Amino acid sequence: MRDVSKSYTNGGTVLALKEVNFEVGKDEFVCIIGPSGCGKSTLLRIIAGLDQSFSGQVLFQGNRISRPSSRITMVFQTFALLPWKTTLENVQIPLEVNDVGRAEARERALRYLTMVHLNGFEDAYPHDLSGGMKQRVGLARALALNPDVLLLDEPFSSLDELTAKDLRVQLLKILSDPTLPTNDFLMITHNVEEAVMMADRVVVLSPRPGRVLGELRVDVPRPRFEHLRDPKFFDTVDRLMEMLSSDPSA
Ligand SMILES: Nc1ncnc2c1ncn2[C@@H]1O[C@H](COP(=O)(O)OP(=O)(O)OP(=O)(O)O)[C@@H](O)[C@H]1O
Ligand SMILES: [Mg+2]
Repeated sequence: MRDVSKSYTNGGTVLALKEVNFEVGKDEFVCIIGPSGCGKSTLLRIIAGLDQSFSGQVLFQGNRISRPSSRITMVFQTFALLPWKTTLENVQIPLEVNDVGRAEARERALRYLTMVHLNGFEDAYPHDLSGGMKQRVGLARALALNPDVLLLDEPFSSLDELTAKDLRVQLLKILSDPTLPTNDFLMITHNVEEAVMMADRVVVLSPRPGRVLGELRVDVPRPRFEHLRDPKFFDTVDRLMEMLSSDPSA
């Protein structure tokens, strides 16, 4: 992202993002943290190609992102499943929309549902699933498209803390599988510990209008859920908290 600014106009004008600059490298897991309403979802929607009305540049492998594509897919905070479709259909239909033949789409959907431990629930409808299960469907749906980049918009914040804790560990295991074709991840969160647990690098945004206050490489050994009491873990959390409370105009 180069100098990306974005304002919303309906009635008044709200500046949501101000001159945002950052990069995600190959094979990198980057987290963006920032306070509520600072423009995090706006930023992800722009990267996903869902919003074209901004200033500055958003480049993917050197090219402008001009529309949604199966190369960059998203996991949504509130799951965004089709309630009248089964678990299997929710994963399979986007594949068919992206020109994967029906038989292969079905096979791939089943494979990714197994990957997220939902075998046996292929014919269930979203309302029969728990929040954690719904989010695993969302994850299977986004990964089955074999994107280069996976975007995650606060994927755990609609879940109770125990479910979230469990799913963070599962997600890290799934995403670190060497056979998975997707290796670049950009996740948004307002939970600093979560960012330190998951990311290679954390980018910190200011309150609205969101701008980059700084970034930090996370130097805690993986798997981090085994190092939650490591002083390096706390130190990284502290440094990010300091950045979050720094004055963007200073
Ligand atoms: N469609 C819209 N029209 C007008 N204002 C909007 C629109 N979408 C977002 N905004 C405003 O832009 C700002 C940034 O919104 P955004 O949803 O990107 O923030 P966020 O960081 O994702 O918030 P949260 O932490 O609550 O998820 C907010 O002040 C919001 O009210
Ligand atoms: Mg948001």
